[in-house]
Amino acid sequence: MLELDAILTDLRDQGWSQQPVLSAGVLEKIGGYFDANRARFKEAKVGPAGSQRREASIRGDLTLWLDPRDLPAEFGAVGASLSELRDLLNEKFYLGLKDYECHLALYPPGSFYRKHSDRFEKTSSRVLSFVFYLHRSWEKGDGGELLLYNQAGEVLREVEPRPGSFVCFLSEEFPHEVRLAGKERRSLTGWFHDKTLS
Ligand code: OGA
Ligand code: MN
Repeated sequence: MLELDAILTDLRDQGWSQQPVLSAGVLEKIGGYFDANRARFKEAKVGPAGSQRREASIRGDLTLWLDPRDLPAEFGAVGASLSELRDLLNEKFYLGLKDYECHLALYPPGSFYRKHSDRFEKTSSRVLSFVFYLHRSWEKGDGGELLLYNQAGEVLREVEPRPGSFVCFLSEEFPHEVRLAGKERRSLTGWFHDKTLS
């Protein structure tokens, strides 16, 4: 499913990658899972573990954490592909990736996630961030683009959240933000860690 060679080449050359990966059939099944489980999503919080708070002026999405070892059947080969990617990254780039964590995210119209880093604490073990875009449609003008910044604070790339596409980037290298979504924006977002998660 994932174009592993292309992802590896992109990560080596630019530190991030976007690939179309999910078929319309899988997207439709996942869409059904979102619809059926809407009530279980909770307002996402910000801040380090232990002192988390709701701050809609920073991030307005709702999340539902999933067990990466036991993804819902609707997600098909997603889990197996992520394990394959992890193994290959370890083999080729010695990243020492162990576990990953992931959540579904739902951005209601009008929500966004301000510029942040996924590795904000020195103790964080996040190495690679990834996102599958899971809304049924997206067109220019719908908003919700992912902006990747360089270390100098300049926008490096505006990534369109195309349905069924997969994006990954080195967590430490790219501060990023989700622009205001004009339409409901859905994703599976996760992080590979270089530590075992308990
Ligand atoms: C995050 C995040 C990016 C996206 O959840 O930390 O930055 O495109 N998501 O959804
Ligand atoms: Mn992030």
